[in-house]
Amino acid sequence: MYNSRRDFLKFLGLSTYSLSQLSAISFLSSCDKTESLFPSLKDDLVLIEGLEYKKLISFGDSINTQNVFGFNNDFITYKKLASDELLMWVNHEYVNPFFVSGFERTKENIDKERALVGGSIIKIKKINNEWTFVSNDPLNRAVRADTAMIFANGIEIEGSNSVIGTCSNCAGGYTPWNTFLTCEENTDQNYGERDSLTKTVSDTKYGWNAIYPHPPEHYGWIVEVEPETGKAKKHTNLGRFAHECATTIVSKSNQVVVYSADDKADEHIYKFISKTNSNFEKGILYVADTKNGKWLPLVLELSPILKKHFKSHTDLMINTREASKILGATPLNRPEDIEVHPLTGDVYITLTKNPKRKDYFGSILKISEKESNHSSTTFSAEIFLLGGEENSFSCPDNLAFDKNGNLWMCTDMSGPTIGKGPYTSFGNNGLFVIPTMGPRAGKVIQVASAPVDAELTGLCFSPDQKELFLSVQHPGELSTDLKNPTSHWPNGGESTPRPSVVVISGEFLENLTK
Ligand code: FEO
Ligand code: CA
Ligand code: CA
Repeated sequence: MYNSRRDFLKFLGLSTYSLSQLSAISFLSSCDKTESLFPSLKDDLVLIEGLEYKKLISFGDSINTQNVFGFNNDFITYKKLASDELLMWVNHEYVNPFFVSGFERTKENIDKERALVGGSIIKIKKINNEWTFVSNDPLNRAVRADTAMIFANGIEIEGSNSVIGTCSNCAGGYTPWNTFLTCEENTDQNYGERDSLTKTVSDTKYGWNAIYPHPPEHYGWIVEVEPETGKAKKHTNLGRFAHECATTIVSKSNQVVVYSADDKADEHIYKFISKTNSNFEKGILYVADTKNGKWLPLVLELSPILKKHFKSHTDLMINTREASKILGATPLNRPEDIEVHPLTGDVYITLTKNPKRKDYFGSILKISEKESNHSSTTFSAEIFLLGGEENSFSCPDNLAFDKNGNLWMCTDMSGPTIGKGPYTSFGNNGLFVIPTMGPRAGKVIQVASAPVDAELTGLCFSPDQKELFLSVQHPGELSTDLKNPTSHWPNGGESTPRPSVVVISGEFLENLTK
């Protein structure tokens, strides 16, 4: 049909794609015949033809003699030790007392919970061409809600530079200097939030603060963890809110930039621009005004009105949300994950939903930084894709780009809404791939459907992108009877469900990431 590669490029209206990108575009163009997966309510991790999965590790598996793999695994990243050896970090966002402790708020139950959230560092190795978890490796480690850590740069909050633990670890990131970033999201569920006027601490969902009354201001930060030692510090320069993610990129100005979203209805997106490319010690946190395409600096010296409200930079950072509202940041429909397109540099942001504003299905926002420089303070913004029946997905959450610029996306319709009302047609939560180039750009292909009540999250490609690591979080979350849970995934039979990390591989993925 085409006489040369150039004719084919001309047909696509492109000029400079690599052979590997072209091969992915051409595979996806032929996907009309490869049916997108149909939405499903089946209690299984259902995959499109050409993909298969293996369980890597589950809640309760021993990682060393003292610790088990925690509950509700979420974000996944790794430090590459060798081509067949990775030191993996996995977040454990929260526990379901029904499965791990019990609803009674005793110290014993709360201690059980605190030992199962935070993150796990685990060695994985490719043995016989299969990624395998290495139990008891000396580098395996648990960073938990009772692990001692500090604030970076000698900062003290509520009179202390030391902090007890991390929790509500949702998504995260990886620094250019090879450390893990883990984001504290809904920490008010554990330690409450202080009222700015009365100074009283709010009630919490899990009641930890009745036994451990740690200051709420010690939580809600981005935490940096050293892979080999597990040493952790919280970065106050990156702001305090319900951090979903911490996506890093080195900008054209050679500065490290961290994008983070505040996962709450009508909250904002942020970026921190470090002075350098090697640490977060100095830099400026900005909040987005997406209406006018401006990044607004959260800096006392640049804003008399902020100076009136906050007594110090640390005070401002503790109260990031309040400061953002004062500056006129744009409220968004629950911003969640952020990823940078590897070829265009555009920044993609999921807005999961905001029923209060009649947004039931969410959308994906795209930001193009001025001159494709992530250090720019101006940008243009547009909706890349709308959730809803037309595009066959609802409530976008976690994102990842493969090396050819295909966007992989997981959805997070909350458990009680799945298969009901406006969500009836979408089946269980899913995993989707969306080409961003070529004739099928913007066409959504469903590639996986989650077990009952579960959310797929933490998507992370192996170094050669032949495998995708994926978290299956909260299967069977709506169970009320241990003898008859709503899900039996992954072990089937009469078993209770176990949040797990799986490895997805197969021809379908290889065709996209050759
Ligand atoms: Fe933990 Fe925003 O999902
Ligand atoms: Ca999430
Ligand atoms: Ca979510």
